[in-house]
Amino acid sequence: MSAAAAGASPDADRPIGVFDSGVGGLSVLNALRAELPHERFVYFADTAHAPYGERGDAFVAKRTTAIARHLVDEHGIKALVVACNTATAAAIHELRAEHPTLPVIGVEPALKPAVALSRTGHIAVIATRVTLESRKFEALHGSLAARARFRIVPCDGLAGAIERADAARVAALCEKYLGAAGRFGDQPGQIDTLVLGCTHYPFIAGELRRWTGDAVRFIDTGAPVAQQTRRLLLNARHLKPEGAGDVLLLSSAAPAALDAAAARWLGGPIECAIHARALHTTPA
Ligand code: DGL
Repeated sequence: MSAAAAGASPDADRPIGVFDSGVGGLSVLNALRAELPHERFVYFADTAHAPYGERGDAFVAKRTTAIARHLVDEHGIKALVVACNTATAAAIHELRAEHPTLPVIGVEPALKPAVALSRTGHIAVIATRVTLESRKFEALHGSLAARARFRIVPCDGLAGAIERADAARVAALCEKYLGAAGRFGDQPGQIDTLVLGCTHYPFIAGELRRWTGDAVRFIDTGAPVAQQTRRLLLNARHLKPEGAGDVLLLSSAAPAALDAAAARWLGGPIECAIHARALHTTPA
């Protein structure tokens, strides 16, 4: 039965666009697939320009708006999930202004949930430099600064190392950044909560854990973003109520990195066919 026949609008059959500078947004896609098993997803990895995190705002905003246009024009998406903290910080306002009727869901470091969960009141936030130096982050941090002690750690190079699946570099950078972040643990004065402010980082949780120990809580935004996407689609009557979901993976460069990451990380209990692999699409 089509979505329309099941009571949803005919637009319900259109796909949801998801994008990131590279493979990091697959961590959000996993949460989306778990929350919305009947949906069709088009995932765009801007592999040719990854990582975004140490580039200027203007560059990231230009790529973000070009990719959104591509997903709207070529794939007719019904919603857009910006599965990238860096792109959200640099361009979410522009995206919403350019596509006023399209639900656009962004991600930002989960400081508020961290404040609610932390018992010691000491929280570390790891993310890219563009994210942490953005006005958006400054405002978020400023609004909560009185409620916890935040240790803000820009992790230059870390998303790039994850993108290249360079395990030795990932290990060295985790040592550099987490080793210097402060004392982790659940005792008074220790950092008991780590905010993963980049969608690449959930994929190196094991490596991060080596430095934090088991008592520290990790907070990422995959599940809340997926729940918010469901709410917006439901309100717009665009939720696809039944039928098989699927995923189309697109990449702006040679697909090897995305292909390997998808094979490794796109899993979970939902049967979902990846019916096409990467296209060499570089929106201007
Ligand atoms: N995964 C992205 C984020 O959440 C971008 C990382 C990068 O490209 O530097 O910020």
